[in-house]
Amino acid sequence: MTAGRTAIVTGGGRGIGAAVARALTARGLRVTVFARTEAQVRAVVAEGGAARAVAGDVRSAAAVERLVAGHEAALGPVDVLVNGAGILARGLAEHTAPETFREVLDVNLVGPFLCARAAIPGMKARGRGRIVNVASISGTIGTAEAAAYNASKWGLIGLTRCLAEELRDHGVQCVAVSPGSTDTEMLARTPFPPRMSADEVARVVVFAALDAPDAITGANLEVYG
Ligand SMILES: NC(=O)c1ccc[n+]([C@@H]2O[C@H](COP(=O)([O-])OP(=O)(O)OC[C@H]3O[C@@H](n4cnc5c(N)ncnc54)[C@H](OP(=O)(O)O)[C@@H]3O)[C@@H](O)[C@H]2O)c1
Repeated sequence: MTAGRTAIVTGGGRGIGAAVARALTARGLRVTVFARTEAQVRAVVAEGGAARAVAGDVRSAAAVERLVAGHEAALGPVDVLVNGAGILARGLAEHTAPETFREVLDVNLVGPFLCARAAIPGMKARGRGRIVNVASISGTIGTAEAAAYNASKWGLIGLTRCLAEELRDHGVQCVAVSPGSTDTEMLARTPFPPRMSADEVARVVVFAALDAPDAITGANLEVYG
């Protein structure tokens, strides 16, 4: 039963996040999409892929607190949090500026932590909730010319496993979904050909968020395509 449930999807303005928002909406959830580009999150709502659009940055603890509070006021308790926002910086490690490395960790790893931190108290109080972190196959292998991205996604899988342990006795599950090359704007800036669509990845995220048993908690679902 998913009617009446709600979800927040970060990175919901395009690519995998937008596909996840559409798929959760199709399952009857009321979804808030969150990303920096207001026109993109608004477009997802305009096409019927989500109920609410909020523009903001996952790096900001204050913005993320407002995101969760505003969602709960407008749509109700957060049943599902999908941490989809992410960025990629490519280049050899020795050519990567320290500030670039920190920025990627900030968006891809600190961002999901901040969003989880904001959503967890309500989930624990209700004894129900699911957090899905969109990691990457680069979170278990090494990908050349993506030092910060690799580190962030390995870290995100670690965060997932930590949260699964912290939350397992509170009715809250945390799962990672790790796609390979998916046909999005991010992939278009790499030499890698697409192996699957964002909609296919979204189906796996929806499985993790809604259909998988609670015993899935802590899993990392690798989707190679
Ligand atoms: N495409 C692939 O092959 C692939 C493979 C493995 C994993 N992934 C992961 O899948 C997720 C989605 O990637 P994608 O391919 O769909 O990329 P995308 O098309 O570039 O979309 C990324 C989304 O994240 C948002 N975002 C980026 N920085 C943000 C920030 N600081 N605060 C809030 N939102 C932010 C973007 O919107 P704004 O720029 O407007 O903020 C956009 O909505 C990422 O975590 C990525 O690492 C992708």
